[in-house]
Amino acid sequence: MRLETERLVLRPWQNTDRDAFAAIVGDPHVMRYYTATRDRAAADAWIDQMIAGLEAGTSRFLAAERKADGQLIGLIGTAAINMELRGNPPEEIGWVLGGRYWGQGYAPEGALAHIADAWRRGLPELVAFTAAINAPSQRVMEKIGMTRDAEGDFLHPRIAENHQLRSHVLYRIANPAQS
Ligand SMILES: CC(C)(COP(=O)(O)OP(=O)(O)OC[C@H]1O[C@@H](n2cnc3c(N)ncnc32)[C@H](O)[C@@H]1OP(=O)(O)O)[C@@H](O)C(=O)NCCC(=O)NCCS
Repeated sequence: MRLETERLVLRPWQNTDRDAFAAIVGDPHVMRYYTATRDRAAADAWIDQMIAGLEAGTSRFLAAERKADGQLIGLIGTAAINMELRGNPPEEIGWVLGGRYWGQGYAPEGALAHIADAWRRGLPELVAFTAAINAPSQRVMEKIGMTRDAEGDFLHPRIAENHQLRSHVLYRIANPAQS
């Protein structure tokens, strides 16, 4: 699968993405709202998981490549949800970009292409969730038209009690053709 925006190509992962992806998810600043950075093996395993998800049709976490210079800037995509969330939404949308690419609107731009794709696929809605303290990611959610569902906020089941990242917020957007 491949999506295109003004400045980005969103496409399946290639082996040549592995170095750049490992640098992104090995960066403590990029990963400050995750419980840990990923070493090279974990970064490779993450790519392998995204490839497997794409092949199985359970996720569309795509490599985001900048058209201007062919740089891999990160991942943007959607995936089936593997935890209990209010209203049992079918899929989530998410993103991780390398720090040098922040602040240029790339995440919202790529996310909007995925939302259009989700509506073409007939999904009734998408959700996004992140740590309550992750303000940049919540800004992306707002910029792409999602709204906070405070009743759906939750404590992440796989994050330890008392961990500062455990408290999560939930955002939703409905397919306009179905609401
Ligand atoms: C969240 C993320 C994808 C945003 O991508 P982006 O392409 O920079 O998005 P935008 O350019 O639209 O900026 C969104 C917000 O990020 C924040 N931001 C932008 N540049 C930033 C920088 N250099 N440092 C810190 N925050 C920054 C601002 O709050 C901005 O909101 P604004 O446009 O109203 O000022 C990016 O910050 C990222 O990859 N973060 C780390 C991974 C992560 O937390 N992913 C989400 C997990 S759920």
